[in-house]
Amino acid sequence: MIKAVRGTRDLLPPDTALWNFVEAAVRDVFRAYNFQEIRTPIFEETALFSRSVGEETDIVSKEMYTWEDRGRAASDKGQSLTLRPENTAGVVRAYIEHKMWDRGLNKLYYIGPQFRRERPQKGRYRQFYQIGAEAIGPPSAGSESPARDAEILEMLATLLDRLGITDWNLELNSVGSPGDRARFNEALRKALEPVKDKMCGDCQRRAVTNPLRVFDCKVPGDQPIIEKLPRISQFLGDDSREHFAAVQQILTTVGVPFSINSRLVRGLDYYTRTAFEFTHGALGAQNAILGGGRYDGLSEALGGPSAPGIGFAIGEDRLVMSIKETAESVLRKPDVYIAPLGTGTNAPAARLARELRQHDAVVELGDESFRLKKSFETATKAGAKYILIVGENEVKADAFALKNLTSGEQISVARGELAEKIQG
Ligand code: HAM
Repeated sequence: MIKAVRGTRDLLPPDTALWNFVEAAVRDVFRAYNFQEIRTPIFEETALFSRSVGEETDIVSKEMYTWEDRGRAASDKGQSLTLRPENTAGVVRAYIEHKMWDRGLNKLYYIGPQFRRERPQKGRYRQFYQIGAEAIGPPSAGSESPARDAEILEMLATLLDRLGITDWNLELNSVGSPGDRARFNEALRKALEPVKDKMCGDCQRRAVTNPLRVFDCKVPGDQPIIEKLPRISQFLGDDSREHFAAVQQILTTVGVPFSINSRLVRGLDYYTRTAFEFTHGALGAQNAILGGGRYDGLSEALGGPSAPGIGFAIGEDRLVMSIKETAESVLRKPDVYIAPLGTGTNAPAARLARELRQHDAVVELGDESFRLKKSFETATKAGAKYILIVGENEVKADAFALKNLTSGEQISVARGELAEKIQG
């Protein structure tokens, strides 16, 4: 028996209706903030991710699905390709490739699968889905302004509230400018020098190559050491400090609550200045429902012009998990189950179904071979509001028995009045 690959899964009804509900709701919110959809390929050149997310990150060093794509002919060059582990790198590549700075500030969003070879557990998959957005453009378009950071964060608060997730926490930090970070990395390197031998193998390597990444360590034994390391907040220059203060001031004014977490550095190398995560208690160990931040130097790192940006990605799998209990009621059940009864009634039943669907009713259609009892059972199981009986007598009279499956009330309704009765 061939099964779905470890860490991947099928999404089945009725859950798919929840996914569609979530996606429709977020598209509405994106529309209100004037974000437009971008779709980039599911695989890219491997170098895109090592140059953006960063060679030393867990994502690039351990979790990517990478393969050598051989040329079709001996003369074609092979290339290293990777299933995207995230979508920001692809968006910035597209920004550069299509010279999107001509459009001023680009406000883009995406919804789609991402791939990371992580240890699967509840809320963590190897193919998972992100709903993300990026605001990116030349500095002259205001892309660096703290107003953009605050608008993105306020949009996220609105979005989560709209979906009925109200008990979220916004954790905020500034990871500084590239200059601030270089000084921080130097200080970390010094602080780690005398203690690194007591740490895990990964941290011993990170301590030398990219000390900031020590904060990603999950090994319990290393935590007391990490707890005593310097914090980035002590290394912020005036510019970063002012920018961060301005973001906080707007958030306070618009009424978006947040807390400062000076240990939050995010697991990707491209971040500068504002970095954030929204967490949700109900999710358990994998409680980060979304993460994001600024990446003011990313375009340059990929060979493009200066294009400061800020964005986020929501883990859609986790988002759906969070609303599962509350949102079940939004799922639309059939308005009516049409039960043809006896030979020759399939055709008139189909005609009725067509008419009612043209009036936007959700219609489930049975089969004339079903006994009445079986039709009732099927209608009840489908959660239909009404059952409509289409027997020979009803067809002759052009009026049909309509029974409300909740109240038990049954009436005879003429064809022309059915849609109104059922929809009303
Ligand atoms: P990230 O923190 O790596 O950021 O991922 C964002 C969110 O994706 C996480 O908070 C989590 O909800 C979800 N996620 C990540 N890995 C998994 C997994 N294995 N299974 C299920 N959900 C997962 C980024 O990807 C950045 N590109 C976000 C960003 C956009 N920053 C700026 N712009």
